[in-house]
Amino acid sequence: MRILLSTLKNSNNEGYTLENEHFFEMKQEQINQMLEEKGYIDEKISPDLKLRKEINRLRKEKNAVILSHFYVESDLQDIADYVGDSLGLAQAAAETNADMIVFVGVHFMAETAKIINPYKKVILPDLKAGCSLAESAPAEEFAEFKEKYPDHKVITYVNATAALKTMSDIVCTSANAKKIVESFPEDEKLIFAPDKNLGNYINSVTGRNMVLWNGACMVHEKYSVEKIISLMTQYPEAEFIAHPECEKPVLLLAKHIGSTTSLLKYVESSRASKFIVATESGILHQMKKTCPDKIFIPAPSIDSTCGCNDCTFMKLNSLQKLYICMKYEQPEITLAPDVIEKARIPIQRMLEISK
Ligand code: 13P
Ligand code: SF4
Repeated sequence: MRILLSTLKNSNNEGYTLENEHFFEMKQEQINQMLEEKGYIDEKISPDLKLRKEINRLRKEKNAVILSHFYVESDLQDIADYVGDSLGLAQAAAETNADMIVFVGVHFMAETAKIINPYKKVILPDLKAGCSLAESAPAEEFAEFKEKYPDHKVITYVNATAALKTMSDIVCTSANAKKIVESFPEDEKLIFAPDKNLGNYINSVTGRNMVLWNGACMVHEKYSVEKIISLMTQYPEAEFIAHPECEKPVLLLAKHIGSTTSLLKYVESSRASKFIVATESGILHQMKKTCPDKIFIPAPSIDSTCGCNDCTFMKLNSLQKLYICMKYEQPEITLAPDVIEKARIPIQRMLEISK
């Protein structure tokens, strides 16, 4: 395949710069190389280009739907057809009539959308938008781990690779994890992967004793208990709320624990006017939109200087990359048919139970 791109220059072996208005044909192999190196097509955009207008034009022309997670930058949330948590986004992907799904989030989320929609094109602005939690469970190591527990069923948190999902009985998200675990008989032996913090939390609220894979999210495991306590002392009227991917000592301080959607609903319904929020700071945009009169303070991490915890993977997405990926319909998520077939079963089970 060959597509038209602006003039390509390979400068100082530092990658490619597309730098003027001339067009020439670039081979798909070159594009693949660029995608491998950078994760996106690095095209120089005119500063006069109205990105939002162009994205809206492409969305219409290509019958595309833009799905954004709560953790991406505010402008990418505001341009989406649907913005939500992992469960809401999977449900939106399952229901869409669009020909093309543009996933503004991270790789495992786009993979999930592809598994649900094998015949649709699924693209994401930057292929390198991964997830530390998904990476913490390599498929081969997990297969060996699973072999040690032959009589256990596997519940996989959606923040996992497609390969891991092929080895799972059911998938869950933070919004439905309790419900999914409780859908199994009380005496069923269960493995929960890859997030040990969510697994621990669900064990504590259900009284189960699931075997946990030792994975964690690099954002949620970094909250500082000392700094949170100090903020709570400074603002005694504020309520502290947290995502269940946080570690136990952090969760023990929380007034409310839940998925991003659950946290959002909580701040809407609570009578408090100030909140300390322990999850990725992107959610604060929706909280401020929904409750403009309330104050939201991002919980501090052990090593942040900005006072908040950003997911560097989510933050790889930008309006410019969104525009370019819609223009060239790349990078595209592709998966082997047998992976789609096997990974689809546990995802469909989750969607059925979560209806
Ligand atoms: P939810 O979208 O389920 O709240 O999970 C947060 C998360 O870490 C997504 O990567
Ligand atoms: Fe993965 Fe954590 Fe980023 Fe969510 S916040 S995408 S779990 S690294």
